[in-house]
Amino acid sequence: MTDYRPVPEDKFSFGLWTVGWRGVNTFGDAVRPPLDGAEAVRRLADLGAYGITFHDDDLIPPGSDAAARAAVLKRFRAALDETGLVVPMVTTNLFTHPVFRDGGFTSNSRDVRRYALRKVLRNIELAVEMGARTFVCWGGQDGAETEAGKDDRAALDRLREAFDLLCAHVRDRGYDLRFAIEPKPNEPRGDVLLPTVGHALAFISELEHPEMVGVNPEVGHEQMAGLNFAHGVAQALWHGKLFHIDLNGQRGVKYDQDLRFGAGDVKEAFFLVDLLESAGYEGPRHFDFKPPRTEDMAGVWESAAGCMRNYLVLREKAAAFRADPEVAAALEAARVGELARPTLDPGETTADLLAEELDLAAVAERGYAFERLDQLAVDHLLGVR
Ligand code: GCO
Ligand code: MN
Ligand code: MN
Repeated sequence: MTDYRPVPEDKFSFGLWTVGWRGVNTFGDAVRPPLDGAEAVRRLADLGAYGITFHDDDLIPPGSDAAARAAVLKRFRAALDETGLVVPMVTTNLFTHPVFRDGGFTSNSRDVRRYALRKVLRNIELAVEMGARTFVCWGGQDGAETEAGKDDRAALDRLREAFDLLCAHVRDRGYDLRFAIEPKPNEPRGDVLLPTVGHALAFISELEHPEMVGVNPEVGHEQMAGLNFAHGVAQALWHGKLFHIDLNGQRGVKYDQDLRFGAGDVKEAFFLVDLLESAGYEGPRHFDFKPPRTEDMAGVWESAAGCMRNYLVLREKAAAFRADPEVAAALEAARVGELARPTLDPGETTADLLAEELDLAAVAERGYAFERLDQLAVDHLLGVR
């Protein structure tokens, strides 16, 4: 038994906007003071995290002049150097300012689209300066509340134009940077463009440089669409597209709760950790959550620590599940390994297949024993095995 103390090798990272969230929501004002970026770095390092990420505007207040910008970056850099924390990912705020009310890359207004591209191009310079290798793009306000007001096919053309331009720019500059698209079904828009992992994967295949673009799935976002997150992540892995991941918690189909990781659907969290660990995912375990408004700053750091603790507990439980001989027998009984065997042997033809008969009556009686296997997982999760 460990004390579940995170270490940098666990690769836990946090958005500055998560622990720095002041708790403003649709109905309530801010409940917490602003959090300085350098202070966030020190607190996260103390808790055992390895990385911090940010939107341009989280770190550098919009409207800062060159001197103010340089001063913020100097302080932030000093805190990184002092703690050893890294910046694995950077992202751009294309949603807060009123000009983005109809989106960034897909705003109906061409001048806004051009401004959005400039904001991202400038932020790419900062990402590279910080040593980030992943650049997340979350559509934010790219979407619609009405059908008549948005030509979806033109919006997809403009989104493709944006990614083709950004990829060409990164290639021209010789930067070692990949893009990760973050899907979300709704909120803040009534319907958001690229609502799920599947939509994003299909979109990426239409790009000029699909190898430079992957996905950044978020637990709650797929669950807001009623989807199974672990299944979505498995498909992203299968396509070689899991470039980054946003871990948090969500309870069902409702507004984006952004609970701490492990809150919400804990069984799906268990199988997600099992998947990430067994598939050899090597990227950051990035937490994108919002400490609830009920919390003061002490509660913010509690919830950040809770995200990492829950991941480590689930990692230990998943490993114990996989090492359990009764689980091995149950996997066998459930024929789970048999699915890895190709349906036809090498050299077999459709003629061979057509010549074969299935004993329908016998096979129709076959049960799959999934319930026994799944109960073993729940027993491990609940700590009774
Ligand atoms: C959300 C989103 C955002 C994005 C972030 C990156 O909760 O709706 O996850 O938090 O991840 O803004 O651009
Ligand atoms: Mn979210
Ligand atoms: Mn996110």
